[in-house]
Amino acid sequence: MSAYRKYAKLPGFRDFPPEELAFRNHIFDAWRRVAGRYGYREYDGPPLEELELYTDKSGSEIVGQLYEFTDKGARRVALRPEMTPSLARILAGRSRALRKPIRWFSIPQLFRYERQQRGRLREHFQWNVDLVGEPGTGADAEVLAVAIDGLRELGLGAADIRARVSDRILLSGVFAALEVPPGLTPGVFAALDRIEREPVERIHERLAGPGGLGLGRERADAVLEFFSDPTIGRIERDFAGSPRVAERGAELRQYESVLGDLGFADFVEFDFSIVRGLAYYTGIVFEIFDRAGRFRAICGGGRYDRLMEHVGGDRLSAVGFGMGDVVLGEVVRGRGLLPEYRPGVDYYIISISVAEAPLARRIAGVQRRLGRSVVYTLGGKSVKKQFSSAAALGAGSVIVLGPDEVERGVAVVREMASGQEREIPIAELTDPARGKSPSETLRAS
Ligand code: HAM
Repeated sequence: MSAYRKYAKLPGFRDFPPEELAFRNHIFDAWRRVAGRYGYREYDGPPLEELELYTDKSGSEIVGQLYEFTDKGARRVALRPEMTPSLARILAGRSRALRKPIRWFSIPQLFRYERQQRGRLREHFQWNVDLVGEPGTGADAEVLAVAIDGLRELGLGAADIRARVSDRILLSGVFAALEVPPGLTPGVFAALDRIEREPVERIHERLAGPGGLGLGRERADAVLEFFSDPTIGRIERDFAGSPRVAERGAELRQYESVLGDLGFADFVEFDFSIVRGLAYYTGIVFEIFDRAGRFRAICGGGRYDRLMEHVGGDRLSAVGFGMGDVVLGEVVRGRGLLPEYRPGVDYYIISISVAEAPLARRIAGVQRRLGRSVVYTLGGKSVKKQFSSAAALGAGSVIVLGPDEVERGVAVVREMASGQEREIPIAELTDPARGKSPSETLRAS
């Protein structure tokens, strides 16, 4: 036993041994392919930002979860808990020079000091897709289409996931009709964001109570009564008298039909109990869940038309989402969509005796320059062990260098899957100009 202390990873953080990293990359690759299909370009920013970038823009929930500290230059800084404020900061400095709309995506690692619970860790990777400079609901529909397509790319269908769509503009109209003072609307959103996590009495207290928003009992009752059946049909029926609600309702129907045209009707439903916790949203908001309701949200996003100017940029409309890798990973695994982990190399070179080792290195050097992956023994293993290493590494072929064959100027190449063997001139393996791989030679002969 070692006399030294053992170190564990911090709670809420993950290691990524090769199989886990392969799974993570499988998800990232799907995200990148889909973003590319819609014309989005990848960007990134620093993982550490000025603390203030978050304190007034993101809302109290996320601010309470910040990894923040004072750096050696006495700056108050935080690890990024989300990407949107960084995106707004980056674009505030350069959006004028960019053609609109701007379609950008990123896959940052984010840090939140969350209470440990299923699907929530203290770090996660988040696919951020944002469309900036287009105010119409066509942009909102496109962004949701990208999110759903990202999930479809991983094999999930309408039977597995659903997008719950809501709208802060329509909800503000409903609240106005219920005589909620406009200044209290953001507080009402923040209280209602907890509706699926807290008992209704607690929400009522947050809305009505003197320690809360002070809406008063009757208005709080009316708001909560509305939230017991927050459907678009109900809104169209009960709030038809409000022109603001009627006009916005028609826009939402238009948005719905765009998503229908794009082929996503089965994935999307209006559900006005979704308000989103972050403070900066100004219009349509959405979250995507597994249909069985076993997990927390896979994805969340919406329109935020004020954030750019709040970080010193031009007033630019924007809409986007963040999709985390944690819940999604569980949903993909749970559906049996985890791809088989099959690492491999093209060739393993086996030297029968130490005399062939220099030739093995020459062949490896040339073949690697030609782009092939090649491994040979570093430790002078027995032939049997070299064969078992080749199998363990998933080698496509082994190149066997024996003294008699080398003497005759040939190597034996065995294709591992078929067991087929063939002699190949060593000159072919050591001459970069000949370029053909041993197994191509094998197949061609
Ligand atoms: P968010 O709802 O805070 O939105 O996070 C989006 C998604 O990230 C969640 O639905 C969840 O999948 C994942 N996520 C969040 N926190 C954690 C955590 N602690 N552990 C694991 N996964 C987590 C935002 O962050 C917005 N900035 C998204 C956005 C982009 N809105 C517009 N553009």
